[in-house]
Amino acid sequence: ISIKNNFKYSNFKIMIVLGIETSCDETSVAIVKKKNRFLLGDVLSENTLSQVKKHKKFGGVVPELASREHSNTLDYLVKKTLKESGLSLCEIDAFAATLGPGLLGGLIVGSNYAKTLALTTKKPFVAVNHLQGHILVTRMKRIIKFPFLCLLVSGGHTQMLLVRKYNDFKLIGETLDDAIGEAFDKVAKLMGYSYPGGPIIEKLALKAKKKVNFNLPEPLINSKNFNFSFSGIKTATRKIIDSSFDKKLKCELAKNFQDCVTNCLITKCSKAIDLYKKKKKINSFVLAGGVASNKFIREKFINLCAKKSVQFIVPEQDLCVDNATMIAWAAIERLQINKKGDILDFEPKPRWALEKL
Ligand code: KG4
Ligand code: ZN
Repeated sequence: ISIKNNFKYSNFKIMIVLGIETSCDETSVAIVKKKNRFLLGDVLSENTLSQVKKHKKFGGVVPELASREHSNTLDYLVKKTLKESGLSLCEIDAFAATLGPGLLGGLIVGSNYAKTLALTTKKPFVAVNHLQGHILVTRMKRIIKFPFLCLLVSGGHTQMLLVRKYNDFKLIGETLDDAIGEAFDKVAKLMGYSYPGGPIIEKLALKAKKKVNFNLPEPLINSKNFNFSFSGIKTATRKIIDSSFDKKLKCELAKNFQDCVTNCLITKCSKAIDLYKKKKKINSFVLAGGVASNKFIREKFINLCAKKSVQFIVPEQDLCVDNATMIAWAAIERLQINKKGDILDFEPKPRWALEKL
């Protein structure tokens, strides 16, 4: 089946996009409006249903269960979001969904729904890369000029990127093992807490009273590249917990862990900012992804960027974790420039690197 992909659109016009996010354990639908000729946007309505409670007893996200939950709730969420926006389906200019990276079952549910809406309304369908959504959404409320430097920190990724255009990303460093969010989750699990562990570790760390140094390692901290490694920090934390660990010190251990991973991020980003300020004249640094909602990490980056005289941008906390606003927004940025949707047989890509957009 073919649909018209060319989008007759003048850059001065308002554009309204419905986005769907189903790549992991949140089902999210949002309607976002591009306001005017300056590329800035407003969220007209958004609804997100977290599946955290459904997966809790399994100790992690179960892919089969996740896709079933997306499929059970998506229709309801789309209707609710449309109703709250005060718009009818035919007033939406394009339909976007996350096509990867993520869990295949969920990607199929969300993308098929968006494709069907595009087909029935004869409007463009846009296949969005989830990571691109995390990064570009920082540009929804403020003008950030390309190129800029970005640290993407989520449950599945830890990447340092030079963002040259809305669809042009150069990977300059990444984790060689665990993603940072995964390390937070695993350490929380070792301490007996459930997923997602990041917010729990952050809360425990705030309660730390004593100054205790557990001497956690800082892998790769002195290496010349911009790569990271977090699995050794997690293993060292496990060894401490498995030895004769005084449970009364769990807040102090959480603080040691958070300090340690943050220091790894800050050290590498400090070097990257120096280099790319010189080499590419970047003057903005963007922090994105679920882990960017951590207040302690945000504070450290505010200080770093102030010291380096670069603009620091991080989305509001709700926009850091998975949401459909970022998917609708990434589609708006794309349609604004190339005015073309995707073909309906665009297949979901469980692995989809930002460099292969
Ligand atoms: O971006 P996201 O919502 O999903 C992925 O695309 O992965 O990120 C989820 C990750 C989880 O690992 C979660 O523990 C972590 O972000 N996270 C945090 C915080 N809030 C969420 N990590 C540290 N501190 C937080 N406050
Ligand atoms: Zn994400």
